[in-house]
Amino acid sequence: MNAKQAAGYRAAEWVKDGMTVGLGTGSTAYYAIERIGQRVAEGLRIRAIATSNASEELALKYHIPIIQAAEVDRLDLAIDGADEVDPQMALIKGGGGALLREKLVAKASDRFIVIADSNKVVPHLGAFKLPIELVPFCYEWTLKGLKDRYNVPFEMRQRDGGLYVTDNGNYIADASFGQINDPGRLSDELKATTGVVEHGLFVGIAHTVVIGHEDGSTDVKETTDV
Ligand code: A5P
Repeated sequence: MNAKQAAGYRAAEWVKDGMTVGLGTGSTAYYAIERIGQRVAEGLRIRAIATSNASEELALKYHIPIIQAAEVDRLDLAIDGADEVDPQMALIKGGGGALLREKLVAKASDRFIVIADSNKVVPHLGAFKLPIELVPFCYEWTLKGLKDRYNVPFEMRQRDGGLYVTDNGNYIADASFGQINDPGRLSDELKATTGVVEHGLFVGIAHTVVIGHEDGSTDVKETTDV
């Protein structure tokens, strides 16, 4: 068992009969979905909502029942990966481009469990490029405004020779902030920027962090407010 699998499988233990569950996106969330799928095959009854088209396809492959948002007001829990995790359990997410749906699902969950291998644990956020999702209309102006304000490199994410398009039809700019000293403030500033749909800083959202190690062991850290 590798570190990502260890974290994903450990987090899947939080899922109980009758729950509504948010399914994350990425190579670590893959293992949580796989393990939940195995438990569904063994008789676990849950309903789930996925944070990306890719994760929904994976869930359906495992016969995990998928619901639409209109069917529930909140979720019992969500499990998702992260690109960086700091000591306060603030995160950078969105390396896979699913940040908007991931944040919607995380914030709608009574417990948000972050799963990651130990390489994702950092003393300060920011070495990983921060994904910022932009409305395509006039995105050049939004990008220029961000560059002028922060004076750090921004790159429009590319795919197949064109701009990367999210599941929501938006673009992503990846920002090289280096060390982010006040993630909460940056989060608020970006959120208040016209043309920015969402960004990959998750501050004060995670309730539980499960870190997986290469020997298959896991560490679990919790906030007190679950
Ligand atoms: C998807 O948009 C991301 O937020 C992922 O959750 C994050 O990039 C972690 O992915 P891995 O588990 O593949 O590293």
